[in-house]
Amino acid sequence: MNYLLLINKENGLGRGYIPNNLVKVKIKTGGDKKIYLEKKTYKQIKKLLKQMNKYFDTEIVIDSGYRPFLYQENLLNDLIKEKGDDAYKSLALPGFSEHQSGLAVDVGFYNNGVYDAKFKVDDYIDEFKWLEENAYKYGFIVRYPKVKEKITGYIYEPWHLRYIGEKAEFLTKHNLTLEEYYEMFVD
Ligand code: DAL
Ligand code: ZN
Repeated sequence: MNYLLLINKENGLGRGYIPNNLVKVKIKTGGDKKIYLEKKTYKQIKKLLKQMNKYFDTEIVIDSGYRPFLYQENLLNDLIKEKGDDAYKSLALPGFSEHQSGLAVDVGFYNNGVYDAKFKVDDYIDEFKWLEENAYKYGFIVRYPKVKEKITGYIYEPWHLRYIGEKAEFLTKHNLTLEEYYEMFVD
């Protein structure tokens, strides 16, 4: 498995791509959704969340993981109905989402046992700051930072973590997106 795989608006996985090492998430998920993740990604997000949950009263959980092609298509179509073309700034076309790789995790939140289904970023500033500073220790990057919207093609999504493995430390410390890393270091 190439954990550094670049998936973005230019580099897709294709309609038929299904990861061969998906595992079922057995820890708590947002709204008790049934979620699958790539095996190593799951192992590492469990460690991250265990540590993170020691610091916050809010309970941080897995809110989205592997998304099949058709599921992404439905999500996008629903958002287009709601927001028109703006939908493309926050959701990938089917075949072009990191979620189809099983390597992306969206985190979600429970407060006093209640799932915050449509959370506002401003309500979880401290949690997102913790992720920015610590996710790399578990092999994750925050994939769509605020100041890099032009480079990634997506608006700020502090909840979307991407497992890339040991290079996460390098990218985080040098403040690089995966696009910039590929531009500089991969031909
Ligand atoms: N929200 C991210 C960009 C996705 O749909 O994969
Ligand atoms: Zn996501």
